[in-house]
Amino acid sequence: MELLPPNPPLSDGIVSLRPWTLDDVPAITAACDDVEIARWIHQLPSPYRESDAREYVLSTEVAWHDRLGAFFAVVDCSSGGVVGSIAVHVLDRELGSLEVGYWTAAPARGRGLTTRALRVLSAWALREAGAERVQLRADVRNTASLRVAEKAGFTREGILRASGFNTREGRRIDYAVFSLLPGDGK
Ligand SMILES: CC(C)(COP(=O)(O)OP(=O)(O)OC[C@H]1O[C@@H](n2cnc3c(N)ncnc32)[C@H](O)[C@@H]1OP(=O)(O)O)[C@@H](O)C(=O)NCCC(=O)NCCS
Repeated sequence: MELLPPNPPLSDGIVSLRPWTLDDVPAITAACDDVEIARWIHQLPSPYRESDAREYVLSTEVAWHDRLGAFFAVVDCSSGGVVGSIAVHVLDRELGSLEVGYWTAAPARGRGLTTRALRVLSAWALREAGAERVQLRADVRNTASLRVAEKAGFTREGILRASGFNTREGRRIDYAVFSLLPGDGK
């Protein structure tokens, strides 16, 4: 598995995926100051400050370098603006297993952009980067995210009961687990 920034950037003509730069800090800060993102990605700081976004962008540069994953800004091709974030982290390098995560800024939701970004990223990971499994976990209550996984062709495998801990709610949570494999959809 070889996780190097793709050149040219990944795109389906509607969204394109490219590595983050420090110029994206204002867009990240604006998007992540959002109740839905804070609710479902409870690991993110809330309130979310510009320094958090800057730290994130710099951490992705290190993580790309250390081959820990692939971390993309999702750009709306028509406006050129950043609409979201999508990333895969290495779960098991030997097995070629990755886990995907994403958020999309509130004004850009409901247009199918996350589903597109997920399709584009998964196709690249499985067909070009040599991954063998892309896993996706979502809180069982996160209806929008579960729907994105289904629409992007992921197979729902089951529920990992009490497998997460939501620090904001102070309780364990159930994750639905999905996957996409190289032969799926053929
Ligand atoms: C999850 C998220 C990324 C989806 O982004 P999006 O760009 O709106 O996704 P898409 O437009 O590709 O698809 C969303 C689907 O969910 C559906 N949906 C959205 N909210 C819903 C709700 N409350 N109940 C039921 N379905 C819902 C939409 O109708 C759409 O399905 P459809 O095309 O069949 O109508 C976005 O809501 C988000 O950033 N949430 C906060 C962060 C998050 O939850 N990240 C994922 C963590 S696992």
